[in-house]
Amino acid sequence: MNRPLQIPVLVGSVRRGRLTMRVARFASDRLARAGANAPLLDLREFDLPIMEERLHKRDDPPPGLKRFSDAIRRADAVVVVSPEYNGSMPGVLKNALDYIYGEWFRKPVGIVTVSAGGFGGVQLHNHLQLLFLRLKALPVAGMAVSKVARSFSDDGETVEEHYEKAFAGFVETLAWYTRAIGAAVDAEAAPPGSDRALARRRENG
Ligand SMILES: Cc1cc2nc3c(=O)[nH]c(=O)nc-3n(C[C@H](O)[C@H](O)[C@H](O)COP(=O)(O)O)c2cc1C
Repeated sequence: MNRPLQIPVLVGSVRRGRLTMRVARFASDRLARAGANAPLLDLREFDLPIMEERLHKRDDPPPGLKRFSDAIRRADAVVVVSPEYNGSMPGVLKNALDYIYGEWFRKPVGIVTVSAGGFGGVQLHNHLQLLFLRLKALPVAGMAVSKVARSFSDDGETVEEHYEKAFAGFVETLAWYTRAIGAAVDAEAAPPGSDRALARRRENG
């Protein structure tokens, strides 16, 4: 897989005045600098109502749901940037995740937890890891942001060098797993020597 990786950044906060968006902007920008396509997936824009039934059982999906599902399905990996609320994830994030399932199959996931306090959302990290394993996704990289109000500016910049370093390591790990898993999926889809495998080899030089 030599093409740019598609790694959208799912924003887990819709709170008025949300600070998580600062970290999401940072993540999206640094992923793009590393060569990925990393659009923000903002739950506020998808505007998903309370889940009454999963997407695959609905013939009347709410307007944003198909777009949300397609964005996850098409992604090579997903970065989730979420605040910790009451020791776990915001209801709006769980609600969105409950709509879909197969879209996450074997999807590498990077988890960035955000907190106004000093513990960086460590409980949330554990909860999200378990949730993504349940969805058969692979939580492979993690980073915690503490004291977000003073660590990140509105435009997604940080003055704290350790976050730059931590996120660079996060991206490296996520990209490694994403390419490794992508290669395994490609190999399975195109047995060695098949027309498809040869075409893919030509495509990738
Ligand atoms: C309902 C609610 C619950 C919260 N619970 C926690 C928590 O358990 N741990 C924590 O570190 N911060 C907690 N916070 C504070 C967040 O860390 C804070 O809102 C921070 O700015 C990141 O989230 P934001 O995107 O909502 O701004 C909570 C905030 C809200 C609104």
